Amino acid sequence: MRAAHRNLEILVARANSTFICQACGAIHARWAGKCDACGGWNTIVEEGVAAPIGASAKKPGRARSLALETLSGATAPSPRHVTGNSEFDRVCGGGIVPGSVLLVGGDPGIGKSTLLLQISAALARRNFGVTYISGEEALDQIRLRAVRLGLADAPVQIAAETHVRDILATLESQSPPALVIIDSIQTLWTNALEAAPGTVSQVRACAQDLVRYAKNRGAAVILVGHVTKDGQIAGPRVVEHMVDAVLYFEGERGHQFRILRAVKNRFGPSDEIGVFEMGDMGLREVTNPSAVFLSDRDARVAGTAVFAGIEGTRPLLVEIQALLAPTSFGTPRRAVVGWDTGRLAMILAVLEARCGVSLGGFDVYLNVAGGLRITEPAADVAVAGAILSCLSGEPLPPDSVLFGEISLSGAVRAVSQTELRLKEAVKLGFRQAFCPASTKVNIPELNHIALATLGELTGRFDLAEGLPASRERPE
Ligand code: TYD
Ligand code: MG
Repeated sequence: MRAAHRNLEILVARANSTFICQACGAIHARWAGKCDACGGWNTIVEEGVAAPIGASAKKPGRARSLALETLSGATAPSPRHVTGNSEFDRVCGGGIVPGSVLLVGGDPGIGKSTLLLQISAALARRNFGVTYISGEEALDQIRLRAVRLGLADAPVQIAAETHVRDILATLESQSPPALVIIDSIQTLWTNALEAAPGTVSQVRACAQDLVRYAKNRGAAVILVGHVTKDGQIAGPRVVEHMVDAVLYFEGERGHQFRILRAVKNRFGPSDEIGVFEMGDMGLREVTNPSAVFLSDRDARVAGTAVFAGIEGTRPLLVEIQALLAPTSFGTPRRAVVGWDTGRLAMILAVLEARCGVSLGGFDVYLNVAGGLRITEPAADVAVAGAILSCLSGEPLPPDSVLFGEISLSGAVRAVSQTELRLKEAVKLGFRQAFCPASTKVNIPELNHIALATLGELTGRFDLAEGLPASRERPE
């Protein structure tokens, strides 16, 4: 009898577990070495799942009819909690919306805890209630960091805890603070599930509980999530669709600049960026990023071009650097930092096929200065300009900016927000702009050099001499 009971228990346990890919969250019926959904190897882990709500109850409960409303209902726009950190507020769309849930993701060590402690202190100093819960650091460590950042006097409530049940019990027992910070979602666990902390089911279940708390009590919640490049730890990607805004904190390790980028925002523009500089006193806001990104620039060097870009609602000038070196092996190398490799390959192909520029014998290296990542196709012309300048050994005019999208036919296409780009260029002392021929905007302070095709840009360089360094093309 007892053995039969035990067998039944095992069967129930089996029925309650599934195999979940830790990289993409796909559910599989059985274990496999490779996830069919994302192609990741060795990412599938067996996890216990909670019984569906109501499954254990005898009666499913009566359905309740909903009170349907109109779009034009009277809902007062809720005032936002403005932190006073201008870069952070802008990325959020003008402050934190009460009752919203934000996910701040990024590589470990990039500065998420530092940023959020600064935000907490800024908000607390403005008399908002802030609770900072760390599952990663002990209270002493948080205090030490606060002292180092000069924030020890800010009235932030802190706790070190990982059990989501205790965290919610604490939060529910008091009047809701304006902001709750959970650092990080991967360290939380709930006893409703048997899976280990950090697995997809745990991350999802804990995030759901916290989202419910935020919506019910009107407190804003910021979840910190680590993203690892190899996808070994359950990425916070499974949380992305549950939250109102997803902000990624990015930057190159060796650089002092950090970019906070909104990739999803239900209450503001996405693609907005905030620029910070990491220093001894934590993260400092960079309010004039164009000037900072161009500060070390030497305009007399061949192979550089200034791209007049737009990040979110703000114009941003950045330097694009290209280097060409003779290939030592059969296949030329293409290495890119801060831009899309596929896009570079496309531009090289257009230069070869449409403009007759031979690049097959060169390794091409491309770098966006300052550790910024550019995603705009409008950078095409600036990238082509940097490559052509390096190939010819002639610097571009030092007071010029470039922008425009290149199509596969070699045509230069118009891009959005031209006026904003040009005005920023004027503000920073530029006098010439290589822009698409279809550009209508005319700014008197600027000399507009209209480009209808990439060939017109190529024609401005003397490419007969070959590489500046060797002056000879490799055979
Ligand atoms: P941290 O906020 O702990 O990163 P995360 O929470 O994203 O894992 O940041 C840690 C890094 O920041 C660490 O390498 C040290 C650096 N740092 C500074 O350079 N200056 C500072 O004032 C602080 C607090 C940290
Ligand atoms: Mg941290």
